[in-house]
Amino acid sequence: EAFATPVDALLDRVEQSMRNDLVPAEIFNNEELFRAEMERVFTRVWVFVAHESEIPGAGDFVQRRIGVDPVIVTRDGEGDIHVLSNYCRHRGSQVCQTDSGNSRFFTCPYHGWTYANDGRLIGTPMMQRAYGEPLDPNLWSLKKAPKVQSYNGFVFASLSDDVPPLEEWLSGGASWMLDLILNLAPGGMRVAGPPERYIVHGDWKTAAENFAGDVYHLPTLHFSIQEVELIQSIQFTCDISGTYEFANGHTFIGHHWTEAIGPFFTYGGYGAVPGYVENFDLSGYDETQKWVAEHMPPTVGTIFPNLSFIRIFSPLPDGPPGVFTSFRQWQPIAPGKIELWNWQFVWNFQDEESARRDYVGGQYCFGSAGLFEQDDTVAWEGVQRAAASPWMRKEGLEFNYQQGQKSPLDLRPDPDWKGPGVHRKTTYGEYPQFNFLRQWLATMRENAPKGTSR
Ligand code: FES
Ligand code: FE
Repeated sequence: EAFATPVDALLDRVEQSMRNDLVPAEIFNNEELFRAEMERVFTRVWVFVAHESEIPGAGDFVQRRIGVDPVIVTRDGEGDIHVLSNYCRHRGSQVCQTDSGNSRFFTCPYHGWTYANDGRLIGTPMMQRAYGEPLDPNLWSLKKAPKVQSYNGFVFASLSDDVPPLEEWLSGGASWMLDLILNLAPGGMRVAGPPERYIVHGDWKTAAENFAGDVYHLPTLHFSIQEVELIQSIQFTCDISGTYEFANGHTFIGHHWTEAIGPFFTYGGYGAVPGYVENFDLSGYDETQKWVAEHMPPTVGTIFPNLSFIRIFSPLPDGPPGVFTSFRQWQPIAPGKIELWNWQFVWNFQDEESARRDYVGGQYCFGSAGLFEQDDTVAWEGVQRAAASPWMRKEGLEFNYQQGQKSPLDLRPDPDWKGPGVHRKTTYGEYPQFNFLRQWLATMRENAPKGTSR
């Protein structure tokens, strides 16, 4: 205990609180904790960086972030993908200054050191006079993420060598469920364009836990969507949804097929819209997956730590509805502050007009001007304000995650569930949020610097 850092003392409190289904408010906006999260989570686990369809050709690149560090995701002449640190090895300036493009080289704007798109140092201005001989590229190339792997076109990178293979990280349910989002049709999905990005004064964990399983907020925070008649009734949304809590903190929500709702949620909404289902091929799926696709398809979820998705049905003003697929990343930029990156995905079988309609539907709901997004982000801003409050810190404010404990409903894991992980038949109860937060706590603990006592 004598050597416990303030962060580890706070984590002790978190562990104590979580035993009572409470969470200390300050974890959602705390300077030291944020720094520790960057070191213990974001440099240690697999983090999504790009979709392969964003960099289809040799020389294509996008600039991304892993935690607070800028990285360049490149495709070299051989077709291999690299995740390069965007810090010049001379003094650290950012060698890539654009969001995306195509280039075989990155030339640092400060003094002109030049790197190939696989990270190799290939030039230093005035080399003869300045250095006398070429600098050794084995020593002076851009740092690279040691691990880069793709799953269904989703490129993940890890800044730590010491991670399980990506397929193992996503096993235990996550990839099994993601297959029902990304693989319904042969040929898969592609990005509909570059990510939209905007600042939200909310903590990355607030957004991640919301997408992991907060359905309870819909009838209140999103009541306006009923008022504008986007849907008929939002009141019983927790009753018609269920949870999927998987290994490694990955957590999903699914929506029921019911007589009353009809095919509204089948395949995540596609069952109610012509033009999609005939392109789907479920023959490779196991029986439980087929059941899930048709009866309780994944609609919302979070891949630990900061990648989430939502796929739902969106009415459109001019004709039949669309179904949109948004993957979003909660990019931490400061305690209680994120940059929200929002990618819309469309199926490769869709023509331009159909893809455009789904894109519009997605922006209508989620996006900087989206109906739902505007509601969510305002509420999340309130969370980080409470979390940083001097008064509330003095009170030792804890948030209540006790929902469900005395509910008359049966919220236990479904004993008949044949798939991976845990499944519950409603989303009352804050179990999915805890599945995410437990992984967060475990990761923070495991990667505490050596020498701090516990
Ligand atoms: Fe990049 Fe000097 S900092 S060349
Ligand atoms: Fe919401």
